[in-house]
Amino acid sequence: MIVVKVPLKITLFGEYAVVFRKPAIAATLPVYMSFKVTPNNDGLLHIKSSTLLGKLYMVSIDRTSLKVINSYVEEAEVLKFLRYVLKALELCEAEIRPGSKKGLYIEMESPVPAGVGLGSSAAVSVATVSACLATYTSSTEVDRNLIARIAWRTEQEVQGAASPMDTYTITFGGLRYIEPSVPFAEEIKTQQKLPVLVGYVPKKATTAELVNDVKRKGAIVPEIFNAIMDTIGLIVNNAKQAILKNDLEMLGILMNMNHGLLEALNVVSVEHSMIVKALRAVGALGAKTSGAGGGGAFVALARSHFEIPMLSKVAEAFNAKIIASEIGSSGVMIAIS
Ligand code: PMV
Repeated sequence: MIVVKVPLKITLFGEYAVVFRKPAIAATLPVYMSFKVTPNNDGLLHIKSSTLLGKLYMVSIDRTSLKVINSYVEEAEVLKFLRYVLKALELCEAEIRPGSKKGLYIEMESPVPAGVGLGSSAAVSVATVSACLATYTSSTEVDRNLIARIAWRTEQEVQGAASPMDTYTITFGGLRYIEPSVPFAEEIKTQQKLPVLVGYVPKKATTAELVNDVKRKGAIVPEIFNAIMDTIGLIVNNAKQAILKNDLEMLGILMNMNHGLLEALNVVSVEHSMIVKALRAVGALGAKTSGAGGGGAFVALARSHFEIPMLSKVAEAFNAKIIASEIGSSGVMIAIS
């Protein structure tokens, strides 16, 4: 059996602009999805999870005809994740063993519900590619560049457009400066752990829907849209310097500016607007929507780690769930047992 642990992630700076080849800063969270993968010879993909939808689901699908053989729950979210798993397997096999279609039994466990905007679809892609490469090579020493490249391709094919940010961050782990045009995910080494708080509220639309809507509206006012993207790129480069200098005040200012531009793109939900303003009002140096928006994840920067419990309480008062107060955990981990 192959066991893959894969972290979720947040975007600190640069979401959306990274789709248009501007840099971004993202980090893994010490919160992991786990995949237990056992190869079998029936040519079917069996997936079981009791946590991704908050209830047990099992689905079996014929890998050649893509026919669902049996399913305990036929929900859009199950099928959505299945698309990432099937595409990741197809692309991995095309690379490593063309023509092969292995049967697999996959048991998934997730600490968060599907689609909250913490990179969960990228985590599914990275985990599936990692398990596939480890299965075919019978080794846990899998090339991370290869994992990230195939997982990114998976996201692009399933969603239509995706930056390499989520897949590269989740594969390599840590706090990363993403150069999407290479693509490359440079590790940013911090002098001290950043005092951040990460939480989420339910998300109302998928990342693909939100990105398409932003693109469509941007095309109506291209000059202004491009100026916003350029400004986000500038914010990201300044934020990298602020992190390297451990200048928390500057980092907070940049976080608030980045959030303002996400408001301009109209991807910030009412709940997020309230949470972000409340967190700043009680002393957070900065707070912003993280990722695609439409609800989903947010991140706040505190003056110090001591203030994190107080900020958590404020966010919880707005029905947010707190998921982490630390960033920069390890990337994907693969074991054979
Ligand atoms: O909300 P998430 O974790 O799916 O992040 C999406 C980030 C975007 O920049 C909006 C899209 C992308 O592909 O980078």
